[in-house]
Amino acid sequence: MPSPEAVRRLAGTPRSFTAWALAHGLQRAVIRRGARKGDLIGRMVVEPGLREDPFPAYEELRAQGPIAANPYISASVDHAVCNEVLRSDAFGTAGGQGELPKPLQRLHHWAIQDDTLGPVDPPSMLAVDPPLHTRYRKQVARAFTARKVGRMGDRVEQVASALLDDLDGATGFDLVERYASQLPVTVIADLLGVREQDRPRLLTLGNEAAITLDPGLSWKDYRRAEDALRELHTWFRGHVEDLRAHPGDDLLSQLALDDGPDRLSPVELHQVGLLVLAAGFETTVNLISNAVVLLDQHPEQVRWLRDNPDGWGNAVDEVLRHQSPVQMTLRVALRETEVAGKTFAPGHGILVYLGGANRDPAVFPDPDAFDVTRANADQHVAFSAGVHYCLGASLARLEAAVALRSLYERFPDLTVSGTPQRRPTRVLRGYEWLPVSTRASVSA
Ligand code: HEM
Repeated sequence: MPSPEAVRRLAGTPRSFTAWALAHGLQRAVIRRGARKGDLIGRMVVEPGLREDPFPAYEELRAQGPIAANPYISASVDHAVCNEVLRSDAFGTAGGQGELPKPLQRLHHWAIQDDTLGPVDPPSMLAVDPPLHTRYRKQVARAFTARKVGRMGDRVEQVASALLDDLDGATGFDLVERYASQLPVTVIADLLGVREQDRPRLLTLGNEAAITLDPGLSWKDYRRAEDALRELHTWFRGHVEDLRAHPGDDLLSQLALDDGPDRLSPVELHQVGLLVLAAGFETTVNLISNAVVLLDQHPEQVRWLRDNPDGWGNAVDEVLRHQSPVQMTLRVALRETEVAGKTFAPGHGILVYLGGANRDPAVFPDPDAFDVTRANADQHVAFSAGVHYCLGASLARLEAAVALRSLYERFPDLTVSGTPQRRPTRVLRGYEWLPVSTRASVSA
């Protein structure tokens, strides 16, 4: 029998139930009904097999033309259409729930509480449109200038090297736990001024909250994520107070101390922390682990990279293209507009399949082949495009290139030694568990 505490947790409150029903429940019911009738867009959101391997479904969508549609929503895997939608000011994120009718949007706004806001709930930068977005992004972008990211290079090298030293002598380990997640968590913790002892808890909570990026969540998954979000907000509140009293050289201290006319409100500040955690952490873990699985399947390319270490940058872009860590995003028409001959009414949404656009044969010849020397690998849209283009793109590229080069230098014979286990998320694509083995490490 479930404990009273478990029952309480599952029951939630009428407000949280309303927030779930509007953000996920309604969508879930419509999607499931469509999927049962064979609707491909619905099946892509609910079928477990299509989470594991969405690529054949992307080709089915492609066969339907540049834009596929059911009565409720459109979808595209076409590189040109995805780019056009992401860059167009006729589309936006519309506050995260822009596809709901206005009265339901207002009800959702009431139902969702500040201490359970997720990384893609407004006022998160990812869920607001210009001009609000412009002011917000300008503030946060100060931490991600090319000069600042360049300066992080030495720190990233140092962290990678220390992690590999810890693995010295190990012949088998979980690459996600011991390496792929440790490097990004340290980088994000540096950006957010997080103390060493708080990092493991933050890592766990970040993982639990990441599922809120998925559409059509079940009530049970939503409740679990809501608890993690509540704990994260409580933690951020205390943390921001600490930083105000003892500021460091990090992004969050900078923003917390800002008293200029564009300064962020306390809720906006928490949302920056949460977004950087959700957008910057698990995505990079996934990029590194997706790369290791792909390289394991192509040992000749690892040998080529050993002789051509300058090729690691392009190899990272090819991994981003082939196994995009963020598979999709959503945009909503803000006014009547036309794309590829299809008219969008205001409020009509389109699922932008970044992972599908990155396999578009019109842009990438032989798109299913993995080739670290592909000449135009960097034309992928794995970091999105337009006003929401990933702020951390150069940092993620830097982290992944250093992490992978250092890993294969230290363990030239690294192989995947079991069946890796995927994460249960659809928007984010990567591994939860990735067993690897090595015969011996090469001393640094
Ligand atoms: C492999 C790693 C990464 C991938 C694939 C990735 C992907 C993305 C994508 C696809 C978006 C836009 C989503 C949309 O258009 O709806 C985005 C936005 C964002 N990313 Fe990343 N990201 C990565 C790493 C990072 C890192 C390391 C950071 C920061 C430390 C970061 C911070 C952000 C922020 C703040 C936004 C919001 C930008 C805005 O709304 O203007 N990301 N990312």
